[in-house]
Amino acid sequence: MQPHRISGVLISADEIARRVDELVTLLEPHCRAENFVMIGILRGSFMFIADLVRDLYQHGVHPKIDFITLESYGSGMESSGTVKVTKDITVDLAGAEVLLIDDILDSGRTLHFAVNLMREKGASRVLTCALLDKPDRRVVKVKPDFTGFTIQDHFVVGYGLDYDSRYRELPYIAKVELI
Ligand code: IMP
Ligand code: MG
Repeated sequence: MQPHRISGVLISADEIARRVDELVTLLEPHCRAENFVMIGILRGSFMFIADLVRDLYQHGVHPKIDFITLESYGSGMESSGTVKVTKDITVDLAGAEVLLIDDILDSGRTLHFAVNLMREKGASRVLTCALLDKPDRRVVKVKPDFTGFTIQDHFVVGYGLDYDSRYRELPYIAKVELI
């Protein structure tokens, strides 16, 4: 980890909560299938999916929930380019309608990989929702079906996102500045 500081608040906890509520209004009609499964991409999405499912519950949505751990990052701020599954889901996806939840779209490799994997596992539909999108960084052509916030090319932490496994606990999103 390089010397760094966490600068201010880029997106506050209140702004996140309001956006989660808006997203759920958009998502909720797509969560009605009998075989509806929400899959969080770990580790960054744990807080986001926890807030989404509690809000969806208010709309009477009762999803199956599972998690997959995908890794492409080393310990720095740059993606290594290849994505691998380090912990897989156990839920059966044959004929399932899947909603994939990710923390942030950067190069796009992770989400692209995850969508293809869900299809290979037999999902009949795969929708995607990312809390944050950094479109300027895209390498693979992929666009989430639902996005919380579009941000500029900053490295950010908090609300599940880490820098070298730290700062996931912050209830807000902040920028990391190298010093
Ligand atoms: P992608 O495969 O390049 O789109 O990267 C996606 C993954 O990289 C995310 O799920 C994050 O875990 C990580 N990532 C990308 N940008 C950031 C960032 O600004 N802060 C923390 N993690 C990031
Ligand atoms: Mg990460």
